Amino acid sequence: MAATVAQLVKLSLITFFLIFHTLYVPANTATVSTITKPKGIITKLIHHDSVLSPYYNPNASIRDLVSRSVKSSAARYAYLKAKSTNAFVVDDTRAHLVPENTAAQFMANFSFGEPPVPQLVTIDTGSDLLWIQCLPCTQCFKQSSPIFDPSKSSTYKILPCGSPDCVLEKPADKCNFLNQCRFNQKYFDNSSAEGLIATEKLTFQTSDEGLSVISDAVIGCGHINVAAYEGQISGVLGLGASQISLTTKLGSKFSYCIGSIRDPNYPHNQLILGEGTKTEGSATPLEMIDELYYLTLEGISLGQSRLQIDPKVFSRTGFTGGTIIDSGTTVSYLVKAAYDVLSAEVQKLLDGKLERVQDPDSPTALCYKGTIDQDLVGFPVATFHLAGGVDLVMDKASFFEVVSENEVCMAVQMAVGEGDSLNVIGILAQQNYNVAYDIAAKKVYLQSIDCELLES
Ligand SMILES: *[C@@H]1O[C@H](CO)[C@@H](O)[C@H](O)[C@H]1NC(C)=O
Ligand SMILES: *[C@@H]1O[C@H](CO)[C@@H](O)[C@H](O)[C@H]1NC(C)=O
Ligand SMILES: *[C@@H]1O[C@H](CO)[C@@H](O)[C@H](O)[C@H]1NC(C)=O
Repeated sequence: MAATVAQLVKLSLITFFLIFHTLYVPANTATVSTITKPKGIITKLIHHDSVLSPYYNPNASIRDLVSRSVKSSAARYAYLKAKSTNAFVVDDTRAHLVPENTAAQFMANFSFGEPPVPQLVTIDTGSDLLWIQCLPCTQCFKQSSPIFDPSKSSTYKILPCGSPDCVLEKPADKCNFLNQCRFNQKYFDNSSAEGLIATEKLTFQTSDEGLSVISDAVIGCGHINVAAYEGQISGVLGLGASQISLTTKLGSKFSYCIGSIRDPNYPHNQLILGEGTKTEGSATPLEMIDELYYLTLEGISLGQSRLQIDPKVFSRTGFTGGTIIDSGTTVSYLVKAAYDVLSAEVQKLLDGKLERVQDPDSPTALCYKGTIDQDLVGFPVATFHLAGGVDLVMDKASFFEVVSENEVCMAVQMAVGEGDSLNVIGILAQQNYNVAYDIAAKKVYLQSIDCELLES
């Protein structure tokens, strides 16, 4: 859709007005996050297929849901791999690479501006900006809520280029002729968002029906937006650890707890940002490279037996490999050398008892005819052993994925690309853990817990 002259005129008038408005605002007010009751925020995470999601389709079969999740996991792995190997180099500046939109697994619903207007955004640990679509739209994609109109919000302030938070992208992209800070996000699937960086008030509903407010969050207001995937969401909440991310503004800590991604009625998946972050349990060292979160995986056990895998295959050498913990990938991925050993052990336990089947969506996955509750009774837990003596223990509902009424696949799959050396710990493996990132201390805390308990 092309911009009409009227839209462009309106855009210039609004930006013209706002640049004068910002002249009277000391530049540094935009950089301080003021948080009132409580310090930090808690928000429900809405899984793509949950009854709380606008994408919920009561008619979708398990197969339909799995097909989407398999495609999005594969796309996500490709994205993580590209990002982790610096494969995208533009003008000596790494392109700001944001994951494929279709890979979105979780969303959050909170309000922008004064008066507050609810917007549904996808959560992404692989990028760092919080942005939503904004009027006037030169081009906008379909979303379920009305598009945010900053001219109706008394708390919206465009960030001037001189602000320390105006740090995105190449210098040439940072300013417009009105000295306003711009952003330009390019997505892996050719989606994009372009607009102005501003500060705005955010309002979150807490689990006890209270409200928590962040009065000067840095947000992107997208006026030219292209989605490869038309839908419901208004934008993206990036949880990466750069200067402008909400995570950093709130004290560089966040945690999430995912109790179930399969049960559409499960209401307790949640995200905590800032001071309320529950850093409990045992801690394993965290390394951040290119906004991705790397852990040190040392070994894998099935039941009591530690598998014979050279730990070198889990570590990063030079600019490739390593083990990423991710919230946007459903299944986990292991490099072939590790996958072969694990998969052989699982086959020893199940071959002969259950019939092997091939899954059309993921032909290389290890799949069996059967159900988790009836046919995998007594299947041992699998454990990812992380540095610092921290174990991520997967019961059968985290280690297997239900792919149809009567078929399950191991939810740890092989990285099948030529020379793939990246391992990814996906969200199924993290179910029933509170996963807390303390970015400043470079630690991730894992605590096995019923997510519902975190709400009290
Ligand atoms: C589900 O199926 C019913 C009956 O066929 C139909 O009326 C309804 O529109 C469908 N819902 C969706 C979301 O596709
Ligand atoms: C988001 O929150 C608003 C207000 O609380 C509500 O009206 C809306 O239905 C919610 N949207 C979703 C998708 O949960
Ligand atoms: C993105 O655009 C480029 C250039 O037009 C094209 O080559 C590529 O196939 C597109 N990618 C996708 C996922 O559509």
